[in-house]
Amino acid sequence: DDPLLVLVNKKNKLPKNYSITLKKLKNGKQVAKIMYRDLRNMWFDCEASHPGYSITVVSGYRTSAKQQTLLRYEIIKNESVGMNDKLAKKDALRSVAPAYYSEHETGLCVDIAASDYLQLNRKQENTPENQWLRRHCAKYGFILRYPKKKEKITGYMYEPWHFRYVGKKTAQAITNQHLSLEEYLGICKTK
Ligand code: DAL
Ligand code: ZN
Repeated sequence: DDPLLVLVNKKNKLPKNYSITLKKLKNGKQVAKIMYRDLRNMWFDCEASHPGYSITVVSGYRTSAKQQTLLRYEIIKNESVGMNDKLAKKDALRSVAPAYYSEHETGLCVDIAASDYLQLNRKQENTPENQWLRRHCAKYGFILRYPKKKEKITGYMYEPWHFRYVGKKTAQAITNQHLSLEEYLGICKTK
């Protein structure tokens, strides 16, 4: 019943009447207020760890309308490179959730990029900032939500930039055991 452990994925819709207090970052993006301190600390420590390191929160909380626009845009992008309608949609759904099914609508996750490489694509994982974040995020209460080789379980391809706030204890347990959030919650249920 931990509100930090709300599960939103392809099979689990954003709970009805879901609400969370948001906090605005300097760049206008919003995140759940409950994660703000830990996010700031992770951000600060990452940038302080090496001269030149700089990170940007590219996306945080999204409205359902925004999520719908993002999926539409992704489908159109796929069609523009020659995919038929069906494939364009199927492919888009590997990386973008439909409205009411995105974790971003909970406010409990952030997409973070190196400030000199803002693209959210596979190469983001090569930036030293992303490597630092993936190594240290659990200490601040974040997990890498869509890990490599877990696409069948999470429903989404590997996203090195998408960090989900679950609190420190849970983040460390999930990370140490190399689990996805789905697997972790599944284990909790059967216990
Ligand atoms: N990129 C993640 C899966 C989302 O759209 O919520
Ligand atoms: Zn994301």
